Amino acid sequence: RIAGPSGIVIFGVTGDLSRKKLMPAIYDLANRGLLPPGFSLVGFARRDWGHEDFGQVVHDAVKQYARTPFSEEVWRHLAEGFRFVQGTFDDDLAFDQLAHTLSDLDQVRGTGGNHAFYLSIPPGAFPTVLKQLKRAGLCEQRDNEWRRVVIEKPFGHDLQSAQQLNALVGEVFPAESVFRIDHYLGKETVQNLLALRFANQLYEPIWNSHYVDHVQITQAEDIGVGGRAGYYDGIGAARDVIQNHLLQLLALTAMEEPVSFDPTNLRREKVKALSAVVLPKDLDAGTARGQYAAGWQGGAKVLGYLEEEGIDPASTTETYAAVKLLVDTRRWAGVPFYLRTGKRLGKRVSEIAVVFKRAPHLPFSQTDTEELGSNALVIRVQPDEGITLRFGSKVPGPAMEVRDVSMDFSYGQSFTEASPEAYERLILDVLLGEPSLFPQDEEVELSWKILDPIEKAWARNGAQPEPYSSGTWGPASADAMMARDGRVWRRP
Ligand code: BG6
Repeated sequence: RIAGPSGIVIFGVTGDLSRKKLMPAIYDLANRGLLPPGFSLVGFARRDWGHEDFGQVVHDAVKQYARTPFSEEVWRHLAEGFRFVQGTFDDDLAFDQLAHTLSDLDQVRGTGGNHAFYLSIPPGAFPTVLKQLKRAGLCEQRDNEWRRVVIEKPFGHDLQSAQQLNALVGEVFPAESVFRIDHYLGKETVQNLLALRFANQLYEPIWNSHYVDHVQITQAEDIGVGGRAGYYDGIGAARDVIQNHLLQLLALTAMEEPVSFDPTNLRREKVKALSAVVLPKDLDAGTARGQYAAGWQGGAKVLGYLEEEGIDPASTTETYAAVKLLVDTRRWAGVPFYLRTGKRLGKRVSEIAVVFKRAPHLPFSQTDTEELGSNALVIRVQPDEGITLRFGSKVPGPAMEVRDVSMDFSYGQSFTEASPEAYERLILDVLLGEPSLFPQDEEVELSWKILDPIEKAWARNGAQPEPYSSGTWGPASADAMMARDGRVWRRP
């Protein structure tokens, strides 16, 4: 699947995301031969750059972050399609200049009037940029041309702002031209969940409340807030990760089999799963929030959140959040889904662990099964991509002692091709007009409907999140939340 004639305009091109993810992904796509020969990349920013400065920035980003080897020839060809437009978002002239640049590219590079506008900008700037695109006639699609808009999260701050944003975008672009990025859906291991569940006979019969005790979905990071204080403070872990990535993982784990993988059918099943999510009655008991304090990580002393540069020393923003959710369907009745995310935790790992019920009867002596846990199927999303099945096995020797062992599938061993980066897949899908991996407005709004009452309960309590030492697995209240249910968090 090679993209047809097209180009991308990035707003917010001087930002971190653009340098670390978008520019390298575009180069990698070019290197794999998946971009059209005349592809164009236009940067739009306030910075006083010329075309050469822009080219140099992309070059440095590619050298530092691209996954595929650097090829002078691919680079030279790609760089011929680079342009930079300088201006602020409220500058009419700059947008007219952009329109001029794009029609020029259509002539000299053959981009055919097909352009994607990538909004990698703070949400406060969305309305201005969308209005400008409309005013400058940039979203008008003539016959056989397309114009698409790509929106980075956060899609709002709560349900109301998400609805407003969706309405605003809808005034400028038709629904089929709107691509909302949730980069977790671009990950190979996340897409593999569909293959695991629906291409096999083995798992589906036990994928329900008869066999599953609970599900744990984890996104843990060892890094802190880094240089993203401006974005993160006031947003926090739940809005940053649970509202989008973790609820999408929940939807893919819990949903029914779609009639087909066409975008409408797939999204319909995700929407059904999200609509069935129920919050715990006691939100204090069924959630936990924490904030990292100073500590040791990787042999180095690290700062606490409140001491980080750019963070309000009185900030009540959480850097760890855990919630317990139920999915109120016949399949999942009574099976809790525990979601957790945090920064400065024990290690960087994302996984979905389906933990099964214990065997109803064990014909072994109690001492022989002391080290036997529950069966678990763990989808290792990253960094050690694969799947682990944990089950009990006899310890070699004269006694019938049973303990847990695991069977592993690892991408590195089974496939020679390295997985493409999530952004590569998503950018290619935007250019192809393939919407399956992009959450639609309804999914986004449903996710806020789940999170809003939790955020409100936390805000009512008004308390400082519970501190946890950097390098540990989060606040004690998160462990207590599990202990009340007679369960424990996994230590991946
Ligand atoms: C982003 C969040 O969406 O996901 C970040 O804004 C977080 O705070 C990142 O670090 C994690 O992505 P990944 O792919 O490294 O798990």
